[in-house]
Amino acid sequence: MKALSYLLFFLLILSCKQVPEIKETSFKVERKPVKPVVADSAMVVSARKEASKIGVEILKKGGNAFDAMIATEMALAVTYPYAGNLGGGGFIVYRTQYGELGSIDYRERAPKAAGRDMYLDENGVYNTEQSKTGGLAVGVPGTIAGIFAVHEKLGSLPMEVILQPVIDLANSGFALTEDQVERFNEYGPIFKEVNGEESIYTKKYLAGDTLKNKALANTLQRIVKKGRAGFYEGETAKKITAFIQKKGGIITKEDLKTYEAEWREPVVFEYKDLKVISMGPPSSGGIVLGQILNMIEPYPIETYVHNSAKYIQLLTEAERRAYADRSHYLGDPDFVTIPTDSLLSKNYAKERMQNFSFETATPSTEINPGSVHGYESTETTHYSIVDQLGNAVAVTTTLNAAFGSKLYVKDLGFFLNNEMDDFSAKPGEPNMFGLIGGEANAIEPQKRMLSSMTPTIIEKNDSLWMSVGTPGGSTIITSVLQTILNVSAFNMNMQEAVNAPRFHHQWLPDEIIFEPQGFSEKLMDSLHTKGYIINKKETPIIGKVDGILILPNGKLEGGADKRGDDTAKGF
Ligand code: GLY
Repeated sequence: MKALSYLLFFLLILSCKQVPEIKETSFKVERKPVKPVVADSAMVVSARKEASKIGVEILKKGGNAFDAMIATEMALAVTYPYAGNLGGGGFIVYRTQYGELGSIDYRERAPKAAGRDMYLDENGVYNTEQSKTGGLAVGVPGTIAGIFAVHEKLGSLPMEVILQPVIDLANSGFALTEDQVERFNEYGPIFKEVNGEESIYTKKYLAGDTLKNKALANTLQRIVKKGRAGFYEGETAKKITAFIQKKGGIITKEDLKTYEAEWREPVVFEYKDLKVISMGPPSSGGIVLGQILNMIEPYPIETYVHNSAKYIQLLTEAERRAYADRSHYLGDPDFVTIPTDSLLSKNYAKERMQNFSFETATPSTEINPGSVHGYESTETTHYSIVDQLGNAVAVTTTLNAAFGSKLYVKDLGFFLNNEMDDFSAKPGEPNMFGLIGGEANAIEPQKRMLSSMTPTIIEKNDSLWMSVGTPGGSTIITSVLQTILNVSAFNMNMQEAVNAPRFHHQWLPDEIIFEPQGFSEKLMDSLHTKGYIINKKETPIIGKVDGILILPNGKLEGGADKRGDDTAKGF
């Protein structure tokens, strides 16, 4: 007996030796301080300098943040067709100069002829390609309805004044960056194959070449003349439906004509001294962000080392629990009842974290994640605007994957989304982001597919404090989370906050992914010894966050993510 105790004691000492206590600060990857762009009274931060510039131009003409939103959204469709769009959808969260809060859902909808088994073959096997590429992947686009909804209620300048600089830009063209040339070279052959024809996006370009899109200029002109009917009816609608149907899709003229953007109550919750206003369902963004922040709120993260093992553990465990709830409870609120208040209650958060310990990882459930590759990182796009009156908008808009379904309506000058992949095509099976959806997000006619987009506005002491958001599919929520914490807990400026390296966990697959270069091997090893699965093979860039921070002196500090061509402009 005594000998056994000695042996156990010896083994204990040995195992302790194998996991030496390492100081958290020794994991730190040093970063140089970065100076942000600061403006006196108004600012636009977006994925492209031309789009930010046009937004600022509209503000200088006396337009408000909502006018600038419309111009920026359309300018991104011209200069950033990777995600900027007429053929997709998105969400806007806003706070007016008077403190009124609101949000508009212009998310795509399933066509009327869609059904829950539309991607299953006769054996019930999910054809994963059909929800991603080609006509069946396309949801009914919402973007043009979205900009008209904004304009009708909150805009101040006439639509022709707002859209004229965008039409001019499409006609006269803009200079391509290295990044864009690389993308067109990569995707050009795919566009040719999917569409069966050449287009401006299948040509070979060099950085600095001018890209013009006359077809898009004409489409925008028709929209100026006829209003939303210039897109959802008449010539444009006829061309969209004929093209989609030729490519095997089921969207009809009726689907387009009956599409409506929806005014939704934003999700609002408190985190420490902040009031967070974010997008509610059909986006999961606001609720999941709220759940994670609630779960970490009792911990003094201000005293943790930024991106230390302890910090990563805490966020990972909260993310794991919140994403598990996402997959079960969330879907289109017009079709399913969502227990928002319960999910966002502080007591529920406490309960969820009861089995969390810093000693060891909590394994995710036994659901087999299968062969999931889910981290396309930069599709979708986000922009933030604050105007000289104090109105603020946070807008995230998308075609889903890069260039959506890759279907390009050549006559109209824009790509069509593949947002149908955001439904749970077969509940329990992962989508392109590796996200597992449940019944709540099953396909139904005219239903909106669940999103992760998280356009967010934050108040501090009852005043506007931040507008923020990002692309990144399933990583959107955790990127927004880390950016908010970078400023609120770690005192970074807005540019440092968006630049800082990020990590991500989403319940399933049960693994943490890290951005390249931002995290040391030692740190990952120390997490591994606690039972965390680290995916070292997939080290994508995570998110491309754009945001604006309102400084105590009223000036605006821009954060334009260094990971892209993102630009902050202001005056
Ligand atoms: N399509 C990405 C998202 O909506 O979350």
